[in-house]
Amino acid sequence: MFPSLEPVIQWAAHRFPDAKQRRAMSARSAVAAASRRLMEAWQESKAAAAGAGEAQGPAAGGAGSVFKSVIAQGFSFLAAGFETTSSALSIALYLLATHHEAAARLRAEVEGLPYTDAVVKETLRLHPGGTFLVRQARNDVDLGGGRVAPKGSLLCLATHALHHDPAQWPDPEAFRPERFLAPEGQGQGEAGAQLGPAHPGAYSPFGFGARMCVGHKLAMMVAKAVLLTLYRRYDFAVYDKQVTNFGYWHEELETLHPEDLLIYMTVGMVRCAPNR
Ligand code: HEM
Repeated sequence: MFPSLEPVIQWAAHRFPDAKQRRAMSARSAVAAASRRLMEAWQESKAAAAGAGEAQGPAAGGAGSVFKSVIAQGFSFLAAGFETTSSALSIALYLLATHHEAAARLRAEVEGLPYTDAVVKETLRLHPGGTFLVRQARNDVDLGGGRVAPKGSLLCLATHALHHDPAQWPDPEAFRPERFLAPEGQGQGEAGAQLGPAHPGAYSPFGFGARMCVGHKLAMMVAKAVLLTLYRRYDFAVYDKQVTNFGYWHEELETLHPEDLLIYMTVGMVRCAPNR
């Protein structure tokens, strides 16, 4: 709401970090140092291969700025890609472990994987890793009811709330992968079409527009491959007294994840230890 204060807040956060911020800063430094070592080793091997003195020099701005930019990009991909996909998979395993019919149907799938696709999409509807999207207003934005967000404001779109809006999704708290199964022929096919959403914009686990998640296709592919591979080999069950909450903050990362989740993996008749 006060965009002009942003530089002051950033300055204060770096100068006077609290314990959580300090941990985040030290983790970032460790990742940056490891990335720098990898880049240096790569450059040395490149120089050695090309013959001394023939290796390509750093781009304009010097090696330091190139390193910094590669490290920053690498860090974004690691943070944005790894945590989100692994959280989605944990949640999908939990949902399947508590919905046996869905698990059996997923396991039986052999071609095209529409049901597995629907399971991942429904998992991301119920528990989207990014619970809100943020945009900075280029112009004043009329929010209705006489309220205007001034140019430069940070605006949040509440993805989680949209995904649970009963006006968009009938029975919004229920795990119903059929919502995402394409209607067959002229009819409604499976319950997909009736189970929403009323507006296509009400589903946005990967965001919208120019800043939409660049890894969304990879994430869907990985999640489906991992889920199906696991389910073809093992079975999963939750601990009898399981109480699972879904937290929105994972230490320094802001992704939704299951808290205190214990999942048993069963191979044939043997029950393995839970996941921790
Ligand atoms: C289930 C897995 C994932 C979820 C739920 C997810 C979700 C999101 C969301 C909500 C955004 C913000 C989009 C917006 O503001 O409109 C985003 C951005 C981003 N994601 Fe993902 N993501 C996932 C996997 C991945 C993977 C696998 C990668 C890369 C390998 C990735 C890389 C990125 C990057 C680089 C951005 C920033 C894009 C930008 O600001 O231009 N994500 N993601």
